[in-house]
Amino acid sequence: MAEASGGKVQDHYASAGIAARVLAALRAAQGEAAAVTPDSLAPLDHFHGRGLKATQEMAALLAPRPGERILDIGGGIGGPARWVAARFGCHVTCLDLTPEFCRAAEELNAATGLSDDVRVVEGSATELPFADCGFDRAYSENVGMNIADKPRFYAEALRVLRPGGVFYTAYYGAGPRGEPDYPLPWAAGAATSFLTAPEDTREQVVAAGFELVVFRDRTEEVLPDLRENRRRLETQGLPPLGLQTLMGERIRELQINVARSAEEGRLTFIEALARRPA
Ligand SMILES: C[S@@+](CC[C@H](N)C(=O)[O-])C[C@H]1O[C@@H](n2cnc3c(N)ncnc32)[C@H](O)[C@@H]1O
Repeated sequence: MAEASGGKVQDHYASAGIAARVLAALRAAQGEAAAVTPDSLAPLDHFHGRGLKATQEMAALLAPRPGERILDIGGGIGGPARWVAARFGCHVTCLDLTPEFCRAAEELNAATGLSDDVRVVEGSATELPFADCGFDRAYSENVGMNIADKPRFYAEALRVLRPGGVFYTAYYGAGPRGEPDYPLPWAAGAATSFLTAPEDTREQVVAAGFELVVFRDRTEEVLPDLRENRRRLETQGLPPLGLQTLMGERIRELQINVARSAEEGRLTFIEALARRPA
């Protein structure tokens, strides 16, 4: 089912010339001599509503160590992967389904001088093109909403981790009060949005063979940031440097829909850290 919907998932994200637009937006905001680094690019290349802050929260739980082999599943245009590689001295593999995002990730790796530290691989989370046990840690930020076959997603993450390796994932799930408003940042409509209730997610992660280290419904915690983002978008419009470079000005409506749906109990936000038994 995930594969059948794969084309449509990619169509939602794809556009031409992404890296050139990102670099042009950075220079327009900060001048021709703007430093091109994982930090300076962060408002443009962390494709989730809470931006770099969410990636920092992920890293605090994942706790990567220098020299480790890290897998980013659904890494987008590679912002989190470059930030983790540069901050922790790891080698990060950034896998994504959308070819245009993979090309952009490669070009931005080159622009930041990180091509040797971040490898880009095109592929699917439900059929990872990697051998068993080859990664120390894996993470996946805001990708699960696009994956219909979540048991397979978790089973694949487990398979490619070494025994004792850990997997972090955080993404939006179904809320108790009905369907969210579409379009959303990950899908134009319900056909490519697969939302699972928190308790079902917990069961599926455990059923895949993981030991849960952390599992929490963080909806109430993230709501203040979502509300503040919505307020700014409604009163001030898009920020000078933001995800419109990646997704077009429609991102304003998409992010407002996330905030409204979460405020009204029609989206949840879950976070999990899980270990492959040693
Ligand atoms: C909202 S973006 C998040 C990107 C990145 N994780 C970040 O936080 O910057 C969702 C990403 O998941 C990717 N994706 C969706 N379904 C996927 C799948 N089955 N396998 C791999 N990547 C997938 C999309 O191409 C997109 O890049």
